[in-house]
Amino acid sequence: MPDRETVLAALDAVLDPRTGQGLVAAGLIQGLVVADDRAGFALEVAASDAALYAPVRDAAEAALKALPGMARVAVVLTAETLKVSAPRRASLSPQAVDQGRPKAPVATARPAHVRRVLAVASGKGGVGKSTVAVNLAAAFAARGLSVGVLDADVYGPSIPTMLGVSGAPDYIDNQITPHVAHGLKTMSVGLLTRATDAMIWRGPMASQALTQMLTQTRWGTEDAPLDILVVDLPPGTGDVQLTLVQKTPLDGAVIVSTPQEVALADARRAHTLFQKVQTPTLGLIENMTGPVFGRGGAEAEAGRLDIPYLGDLPLDAALREGGDAGVPVVVSDPDGDIAARFAEFAEALAKKLDL
Ligand SMILES: Nc1ncnc2c1ncn2[C@@H]1O[C@H](COP(=O)(O)OP(=O)(O)OP(=O)(O)O)[C@@H](O)[C@H]1O
Ligand SMILES: [Mg+2]
Repeated sequence: MPDRETVLAALDAVLDPRTGQGLVAAGLIQGLVVADDRAGFALEVAASDAALYAPVRDAAEAALKALPGMARVAVVLTAETLKVSAPRRASLSPQAVDQGRPKAPVATARPAHVRRVLAVASGKGGVGKSTVAVNLAAAFAARGLSVGVLDADVYGPSIPTMLGVSGAPDYIDNQITPHVAHGLKTMSVGLLTRATDAMIWRGPMASQALTQMLTQTRWGTEDAPLDILVVDLPPGTGDVQLTLVQKTPLDGAVIVSTPQEVALADARRAHTLFQKVQTPTLGLIENMTGPVFGRGGAEAEAGRLDIPYLGDLPLDAALREGGDAGVPVVVSDPDGDIAARFAEFAEALAKKLDL
């Protein structure tokens, strides 16, 4: 079995494109777990570097898999969104600066012909928020609901890839016609700009784009309203996120976290953010549960925060492959175990949202 030293040496042989140092020397490896034939860690980078580091994550994963006796490797790329908050401060609205106070009555535009708006959020990047958003949306659709998915993740819009849509949507009479994939209507900030750009948006810019996508997309019609719009928010709990949740009429939020203590601290901050804007946190989902990252942390945390715990999702290659292929697992394997879990989450949430 490879030991910790061997694993660290293998990781240090992979170079950090920013500093030219090995990944260990560059201080990018967080939360390394080496247990028997398994290893896992998080590669923590600035949000603006997420795209740059995706190949590094793959290289690190390959380097560990190549070690004799290594059976399972999990590398998670997490984006530290707070590190890039400095340049945004100058343009903050007064409400956004005064984070301690309850929400000031900010004008929020409800999208027309949309019955419920549900946010999927996470305290930090890379925990599986978008994966949960698309699969949850598919699970709502499987219940017979009409469903939309709005990708508001200005840092790394990934919903187009996960649902397999591309190209600018039609824009007629001041209205955006959403793409439809797997029966889900979808619109993404990534379709408004080049999808591969890892962008840094200012709060007001991001919220303007979001408001536009919310209110100018033809999600439903008077005769056929959309039952639920699932919004994939940018990860983190900084100024951009605060501005977005202040400006968006949300009926509830779901928070996704991995089981580790560091991730849970971020989940806690996400819950606090929603409390500030009087949006109920309808559930916490633990993602990537299993032998590498552990299990149960999120359930305990939900108990402490007094929010509903919806359940866990295993670390499962099918979830990642489904995302890469543009077909959510709930769609490709509707009778499988993962789909069953999402069906449970959707059932619990539909009940809370009165759908
Ligand atoms: N349960 C899981 N098992 C295996 N892989 C997973 C699981 N959940 C998510 N992934 C993979 O982990 C990566 C990150 O997931 P995802 O993009 O959904 O996270 P995110 O929180 O939306 O990240 P970002 O902050 O970049 O938006 C993706 O490659 C995804 O396919
Ligand atoms: Mg995402």
